[in-house]
Amino acid sequence: MSKLSIRGSEPLKGSVRIHGAKNASLPIMAAALLTEGTSVLSRVPRLTDVRTLTLILEALGMRTERIASDTLQLRVLNQKNCTCPHELAIEMRASVCVLGPLLARRGRAEVPLPGGCVIGERPIDLHLKGLRALGADIQQKNGYVFAKAKRLKGTRIYMGGPRGSTVLGTANVMTAATLADGITTIEHAACEPEIQDLANYLNGCGALIKGAGTNTVTIEGVKRLEGTLHRVIPDRIEAGTFACAAAATGGDVLLEGARPDHMSALIDVMQNMGVKFEIDDSGIRVACNKGLRAADFTALPYPGLPTDMQPQLMAVLNCAVGTSVVTDSVYPERFTHVGELHRLGADIIRQGPQAVIRGPGSLTGAPVTARDLRGGAALIIAGLAAEGDTIVSGMDHVDRGYERMENRLRGIGAQVKREGGAPFEVGQLQLPFRRAAS
Ligand code: EPU
Repeated sequence: MSKLSIRGSEPLKGSVRIHGAKNASLPIMAAALLTEGTSVLSRVPRLTDVRTLTLILEALGMRTERIASDTLQLRVLNQKNCTCPHELAIEMRASVCVLGPLLARRGRAEVPLPGGCVIGERPIDLHLKGLRALGADIQQKNGYVFAKAKRLKGTRIYMGGPRGSTVLGTANVMTAATLADGITTIEHAACEPEIQDLANYLNGCGALIKGAGTNTVTIEGVKRLEGTLHRVIPDRIEAGTFACAAAATGGDVLLEGARPDHMSALIDVMQNMGVKFEIDDSGIRVACNKGLRAADFTALPYPGLPTDMQPQLMAVLNCAVGTSVVTDSVYPERFTHVGELHRLGADIIRQGPQAVIRGPGSLTGAPVTARDLRGGAALIIAGLAAEGDTIVSGMDHVDRGYERMENRLRGIGAQVKREGGAPFEVGQLQLPFRRAAS
């Protein structure tokens, strides 16, 4: 199992270039199944989730090629197979993104119930409700969703659920509606920047989508979609993670290319904690040289504070003076990092969807285990802030969402070392992910 060893307690200083967003790249790659031409996507990060989806798309008849280190070229070559491979689908949540595009373009989709990080219940009932409203016949059997439709038909769909909007549910219905007859209106759509990026890609392919990024999205169906060139938005969660690492170590880091307009809620919470932000054309500079203050926050759908930043911010709050209350309204069970933070000396009490953090803790290095992607990032941040040596096992979780985390941390002065090999080692760098697709 791959591990990261960290010698903590040095302030991070320097600049780090922010990569393209994982959670924008994945639905956009899946949406390329809808198109008849070639799409070229730039700023696609080298992540294991991206690689897994590439393999799924290859199995579904798409040719995929890394034509430059951050650029993927995609083209559908044949449309015979409508079944998403089980062993790949259970690796990641975003495998469910092929459902809408397959159904709309091929009239049939067989997609296993997706896997992904263990952060609580993650049903797909809202995805299925939306696709049924478009006229699809959907059955669930043997761990698969079987969906078929001769032709989807536009309608008005309310997509809100018990925890608010659904990001990938909105993506699935929006992609399916691009080739439906007539107009679809999604009410209570997810407003995340990744949904807006997906709509921008689809509109580049010839779709007619309006309102993406707001909670009402309208899609006028078209007969066909072409390929296009598209540059994926920068990853706001990756940028936020480096911002937290800078804050927890009392550092000063420039997040090159980060989009402050996508990070307002996080910047607001961190400013309340005493972290300084300077924004200019090159990105966001994050500096923190005085004592951090405690803060309360609740993770909410966008434009609220992202649940994908809850664990990393909690790691920073261990270094802040006072008592903080953290609530996760999106994933009330997303607290696997709490037990591991205890090993580093954190004073945290979990109560249902909330955690109470009493700081400042005197964190000391220890062996810990990442149990999910963002929880793993939180352990790295806490390890960087702790006295002495921390070893984070389970780095394969972190590799799903952060490209070469250790190299980039080293670039801003962290003393970190990978043990057990990283994905995409130097020798593999130029290799395309491509497999034969006929
Ligand atoms: N939900 C339902 N029914 C559904 C779908 C969702 O009840 O049919 C509930 C979920 O259980 C959850 C809430 O609605 O409580 C929000 O889930 P959502 O569907 O928005 O999550 P997702 O689309 O599956 C994406 C990201 C997650 C991120 C969430 C929330 C991708 C690939 N994944 O998941 O990212 O946490 O939105 O912002 O885009 C991560 O990157 O670490 C990650 C987990």
